[in-house]
Amino acid sequence: MRFTKITVALAAAGSAVAQRPTNTSICDYYTTALFKNNTAGNQYTLLTALVNTVVIGNYTQPNVGVAVPGILAKGTFNGSEVNLLPYFDGTLNSTNRGGTSGVSVNFLDGGGAEPLKNNKPANDDKSNQYFLLTHLYEFFGSLLGCSMQGMTGFAAYNGDPSMFKVHRFMNLDPNQLGYFVQQVALAGASFGVANEDLEGVGKALNQLFGLRCAPPVEVIKPQGPQLQAICIQQSCPLSPDAVCNQYEAPISSASSTATTGPTATGTAPTSTVSTAGAAAAGWGVAAAAVGVAALLL
Ligand code: HEM
Ligand SMILES: *[C@@H]1O[C@H](CO)[C@@H](O)[C@H](O)[C@H]1NC(C)=O
Ligand SMILES: *[C@@H]1O[C@H](CO)[C@@H](O)[C@H](O)[C@H]1NC(C)=O
Ligand SMILES: *[C@@H]1O[C@H](CO)[C@@H](O)[C@H](O)[C@H]1NC(C)=O
Ligand SMILES: *[C@@H]1O[C@H](CO)[C@@H](O)[C@H](O)[C@H]1NC(C)=O
Ligand SMILES: *[C@@H]1O[C@H](CO)[C@@H](O)[C@H](O)[C@H]1NC(C)=O
Repeated sequence: MRFTKITVALAAAGSAVAQRPTNTSICDYYTTALFKNNTAGNQYTLLTALVNTVVIGNYTQPNVGVAVPGILAKGTFNGSEVNLLPYFDGTLNSTNRGGTSGVSVNFLDGGGAEPLKNNKPANDDKSNQYFLLTHLYEFFGSLLGCSMQGMTGFAAYNGDPSMFKVHRFMNLDPNQLGYFVQQVALAGASFGVANEDLEGVGKALNQLFGLRCAPPVEVIKPQGPQLQAICIQQSCPLSPDAVCNQYEAPISSASSTATTGPTATGTAPTSTVSTAGAAAAGWGVAAAAVGVAALLL
């Protein structure tokens, strides 16, 4: 199947292709390197391969020699053991669909790893697994600046605009977030993505989602500024622009997976991420074309 070709092409691209131009997003650049035609459908296929690898580990053959355990596998980060599976298989009451407390949801109800190995989100289009995986393709596609997203073949993200709300009952710590971000980077590396691009993505993910009490930010246009901190335990690094009082507000009953509606505290002030981190993040992409990178400039 065509997946074999993908991996071979990427491996070649990693070694032979020149540095990514500053006016081309990561998504567009690697889609073109792989498929020549930078279409919505090809961008979707790239994000499917990337996210599926983040979730279940490297599964395409052959690869460039980078092993990816995946977020469902136990691992270690910064010397601490990490095990994220209980948040995905319904073991923990950690999903934000129960109002004021977390509830159990099995996100592996669409066939688990098997459809992912076949480059699909799930065996059906109704399961929790289907919605989680397709939302991840869409969300990361937007983060990586897929210019064709929103056209036939690659829908725009229509999940919850606030990553804080989605993840709040998971009460995640820096090692759990760090492990997740590390799997994203490893997955990219396994497809031949350049180190400079991987570092930029890692820094941006840590800055957007890894700082406790971070102010509202618009990650997905045009969803508007929302609380985005996923790392919310006390041990998480504090945002330099911390707005902890906004995170402490009671959750509104509409908070579960609504795509519109108030933030935790009503109208959120527009805010930007500090520019120093943006430059350091090095996404190196011109504003309008590239999703969240525009916010970081
Ligand atoms: C850079 C870090 C992360 C990003 C960008 C991210 C992004 C997302 C997105 C876009 C969704 C879908 C939301 C929706 O459908 O409305 C989601 C859901 C989810 N994430 Fe994360 N995530 C991150 C880290 C983590 C970590 C560390 C865990 C650890 C357990 C985790 C567990 C989950 C779970 C269980 C769901 C399903 C929740 C639901 O549908 O209610 N995520 N995440
Ligand atoms: C990026 O810039 C190069 C050189 O200036 C140009 O040839 C190319 O068409 C531009 N690409 C995009 C997507 O704007
Ligand atoms: C790219 O698109 C053009 C025009 O739609 C088509 O003729 C060509 O076959 C496509 N190339 C590949 C490699 O899919
Ligand atoms: C994952 O990548 C490693 C390193 O290249 C390789 O040894 C292993 O066979 C791969 N696993 C799968 C399931 O493809
Ligand atoms: C690892 O842990 C040490 C000690 O807690 C901390 O100072 C350091 O910032 C952590 N590194 C990362 C990458 O999280
Ligand atoms: C999850 O909630 C259910 C129903 O309230 C309860 O029976 C169960 O013990 C809880 N599980 C955990 C791991 O807290």
